Amino acid sequence: MCGIIGYIGKQTTAPILLAGLRRLEYRGYDSAGIAVIERDGSLAVRRAAGKLSNLEEAVRRAPVEGIYGIGHTRWATHGRPTEANAHPHAGPNGDVVLVHNGIVENYLSLRRALEQEGHVFVTQTDTEVVAHLVEKYLQGNLEEAVSRAVARLSGVFALAVLARSDPGKIVAARSGPPVVIGVGDKEFLVASDLPALLEHTQDLFFLRDGDLAVLTPEAVHISDRAGAGVGWTTTRVAWEPAMAEKGGYRHFMLKEIYEQPQAVRDTFLGRIRPDSGELHLDEIGLSAEQLRACRQIRIVACGTSWHAALTGKILIERLARIPVEVDYGSEFRYRDPLVDEGTLVIAVSQSGETADTLAALREARQRGAVTLAICNVAGAMLTREADGSLLTHAGPEIGVASTKAFTSQVTALFLFALHLGQIHGRLSQEDSRRFGVALSRLPAQLQEVLAVAPQCEALATLLARSTDCLFLGRGVHFPIALEGALKLKEISYIHAEGYPAGEMKHGPNALIDANLPVVFLATYDPGDDASRLLYEKTVSNMQEVKAREGIVIALCNPGDEDVRQVADHTIPVPGTVELLLPILEMAPLQLLAYYTAVERGCDVDQPRNLAKSVTVE
Ligand code: AGP
Repeated sequence: MCGIIGYIGKQTTAPILLAGLRRLEYRGYDSAGIAVIERDGSLAVRRAAGKLSNLEEAVRRAPVEGIYGIGHTRWATHGRPTEANAHPHAGPNGDVVLVHNGIVENYLSLRRALEQEGHVFVTQTDTEVVAHLVEKYLQGNLEEAVSRAVARLSGVFALAVLARSDPGKIVAARSGPPVVIGVGDKEFLVASDLPALLEHTQDLFFLRDGDLAVLTPEAVHISDRAGAGVGWTTTRVAWEPAMAEKGGYRHFMLKEIYEQPQAVRDTFLGRIRPDSGELHLDEIGLSAEQLRACRQIRIVACGTSWHAALTGKILIERLARIPVEVDYGSEFRYRDPLVDEGTLVIAVSQSGETADTLAALREARQRGAVTLAICNVAGAMLTREADGSLLTHAGPEIGVASTKAFTSQVTALFLFALHLGQIHGRLSQEDSRRFGVALSRLPAQLQEVLAVAPQCEALATLLARSTDCLFLGRGVHFPIALEGALKLKEISYIHAEGYPAGEMKHGPNALIDANLPVVFLATYDPGDDASRLLYEKTVSNMQEVKAREGIVIALCNPGDEDVRQVADHTIPVPGTVELLLPILEMAPLQLLAYYTAVERGCDVDQPRNLAKSVTVE
């Protein structure tokens, strides 16, 4: 997964490209490059392996005075992360240069066919084949050449292309990975994601699959897969550039952990009347009749969003009494799923561009299901292909490890579960009111629970010297155990597993020894008998771990003496209804993972081997 950017307008291009790449670095950071057309019409290319700072140094040493250009930051898929394999890549005569995010699955056969025509390739990448194809077809009109070239590609691609012989334009094309167009005052930009554009404009729109865009200093022209011109309208994204910056925090991830009170509030604000629990979700775009007709629900997602989906299952089954199954996007699409017109398929995704989740949504639609996207990016592919969408309002999430998007997703799923419960007549007005009040208190409680940061930082020294860690929870706390484990492993590289606490005696107890930290989710709602019962069983599991000398870290209700007598360390979590405890429990677990990763000197925002959005299979 990589980041592309292009600029055409009246400003000097290189600084704009480099600044935009800096904001796309989370998408891929093993090499980078820019290509600009100089004022004399010549083409200048600068590339560097490693972090973006190496490219910035290369441009400092050999400045370029381009008036429009393209740039790329890479997460290698084909070919090692070397300068030679860094984008932009050129055609055989250096007339065409382009940058690419995606994978050309048939690049080897295309490369062999071109080599038989005398083409010589200088890189190991799939992208170079595309540049050769475009140059092969270029006869004066770049967009025509690009259209002919991409027609031969199979796989996924987001492209930005320049040609010396057809100056004054950037051509962009999309099939799969995102391409967003920024509309400024006589300047236009193209990029893989919004943060790269926000300091220039907040008026943006995403290309659809099959679209091809021609950007000139005067205008943007869009044509569809059939070559027909199509209109476009921008969305004014209320994200200031600063929101995409670190805002004084050491890492994006820490900033985004602390943004959760606002993110959760923004996700429910205007959608529920706290004092009555009355919901206003017309924006979803699915009628009450459509939702009533759904006999079963599937939720598909990947990674952290899959953990939100597991939480959503419990919320919907508890509040609406409708059966829910949860599936990984990568599994659902190949499972020949039992989905039909009576199925509602909910796709959960922060980016709205995850290839496996997108593919699962398309599979569901092909089988007649009604589809709903829960997504954090307005206009992202997932929202454009689903029948309805319910946006989370977490703002841009830059850290690879998802935090505020997760708690916002659970908030959105809670709203939707309430909505289904009301539609199906499963919730009394008093229940709706009680849940509305509890939801309205969450932002302040989230702010309160963030005060445990110093405790989490202190515990990080213990976790940082561990090689393994277990996270245990029951019921609605089990998906949180999974998410807490994923947070720790993906940024600190410590092996961690989430488990149902009741499963320990069926095997994992063998892991327990004096070196194993075990994090328990032992909060509960004192006003809910079922919640208290699960809690009591969780405390029993805690005692089993202690009896085998395991190290117990427990998230618990404030002042819980029963837990305090068993656990080695306790972290208090404010009280709320059982179904909303997951949102409050998540913040301490995120902080534990964050400080452990910092203690271990890991690259918190750009952990090794990972990317923020996996737009390829
Ligand atoms: C979680 O911290 C990871 N960044 C990853 O598991 C992520 O949740 C997953 O790739 C899904 O991304 P999406 O929500 O954008 O679809």
